Amino acid sequence: MAEPDIAGLTIVAHPLVQHRLTRLRDRTTPPERFRAELRAVATLVGAAALADLPLAPLAIETPVAAMESPVLGCAPPVVVPVLRAGLAMAEGLLDLLPEAAVAHLGLYRDPQTLEAIEYYFKAPADIAARPVLMVDPMLATGNSAVAALDRLKAAGARDLRFVCLLAARPGVAAVRAAHPDVAIWTAGLDAELNAHSYIVPGLGDAGDRAFGTE
Ligand code: URA
Repeated sequence: MAEPDIAGLTIVAHPLVQHRLTRLRDRTTPPERFRAELRAVATLVGAAALADLPLAPLAIETPVAAMESPVLGCAPPVVVPVLRAGLAMAEGLLDLLPEAAVAHLGLYRDPQTLEAIEYYFKAPADIAARPVLMVDPMLATGNSAVAALDRLKAAGARDLRFVCLLAARPGVAAVRAAHPDVAIWTAGLDAELNAHSYIVPGLGDAGDRAFGTE
């Protein structure tokens, strides 16, 4: 597994991840390509985030001999896309883990209070017993990520990991302050946010770019 670059944050430096991140940053990348690249990066970064899952031996027979061979030694993980941009990343995680459950979590920001308000959440009843992988491409201010992690913990989630595409330092600091037990994996780390809380240089609005609503 890659070592954390700063406490609790791992930037996945694999050349294919970095190559795809550049395609995603490029403003000329059209939505269909953006979705495909985002899905592929999610698979690669998600694999890094799950590199410490336990294994257990299983007795099988190959066509040649009996053997014990390792399989996942835990309940299938739960993938949590934070709506809506997280949906494109969830597909990439399901490529990796078709047996995962998907817990959709919808949040919007109240324009007056700027508070994250939940409008949809449905998770499996046994979420406490499963590794939980929250996915949201952009970790900007960290407000929605903190609210989403609050909600998942209230639902019982204990083994929580957060996979994003691009993080900004203020967002990483906010998540680590509120949820120091939740490690973060990302393809890139940018320094700052602009006055509209967009990541700079970033890649724009990930949801709009993925779903063609710019
Ligand atoms: N959400 C996005 O989609 N982009 C940003 O830069 C920040 C938040």
